[in-house]
Amino acid sequence: MMRITFSILIATLLFLQPGVAEAMDANALWGNRCEQCHGEAGEFSGKYLWVIDDKLQGQHHVENLRLFLRNHYIPGHGIEALYDLLRAQANTPARFGNECSGCHESATTFVRKSIFTRAGELTGAASGVPVETFLATHRDLTKEDVEFFTKLLLRMSIVVYGQ
Ligand code: HEC
Ligand code: HEC
Repeated sequence: MMRITFSILIATLLFLQPGVAEAMDANALWGNRCEQCHGEAGEFSGKYLWVIDDKLQGQHHVENLRLFLRNHYIPGHGIEALYDLLRAQANTPARFGNECSGCHESATTFVRKSIFTRAGELTGAASGVPVETFLATHRDLTKEDVEFFTKLLLRMSIVVYGQ
């Protein structure tokens, strides 16, 4: 009896705190409806999703991820919560601003001036070397950094040049 009353109390408190209830909602929704195909939410976001110009973008679905989500395995009311959950763990180009822009201007300008795709591979215009190879000996970047910045430049090149 105590236990039931206590559960109801907790449920009520959660219900009265929209932030908490929503966050739990999003995690539960993800677990029930998305995880079987996409695995853990943070890992999925880190691997495929970016926040650019304040908008969440996918690897494939660059333009309007919200619209895509609306047609993608989700009951209408969960979209915003899931969008926020994914967004909170997505990548951003901010590191380029901090670590590269001092010499290379903004990421989009840099891509426009210096990066192109050759045979599907991101390549430096001046060096003619694949970006991933070039970065391995540039600015003492670690292996993880090289992976991250290669992904970032690839993402920005999709934004600049289209898919
Ligand atoms: C039955 C498997 C399946 C389920 C369940 C599923 N997805 Fe997907 N999802 C896919 C596939 C396959 C793709 C890639 C195909 C495409 O882009 O249309 C995808 C693509 C995506 C993308 C775009 C990724 C990108 O890089 O552009 C997002 C975001 C996404 N899913 C979110 C979700 C969310 C949120 C849920 C749960 C509500 C969910 N998915 C449930 C199979 C699934
Ligand atoms: C202190 C200045 C400086 C910083 C900071 C810097 N770079 Fe560079 N970068 C250069 C110079 C100079 C070149 C061209 C000459 C060279 O090194 O071969 C270059 C070349 C490159 C190239 C090859 C372009 C081509 O046309 O072949 C890439 C890719 C690149 N940088 C990425 C980055 C990234 C990513 C960062 C941030 C992690 C970064 N750089 C930070 C100075 C810098």
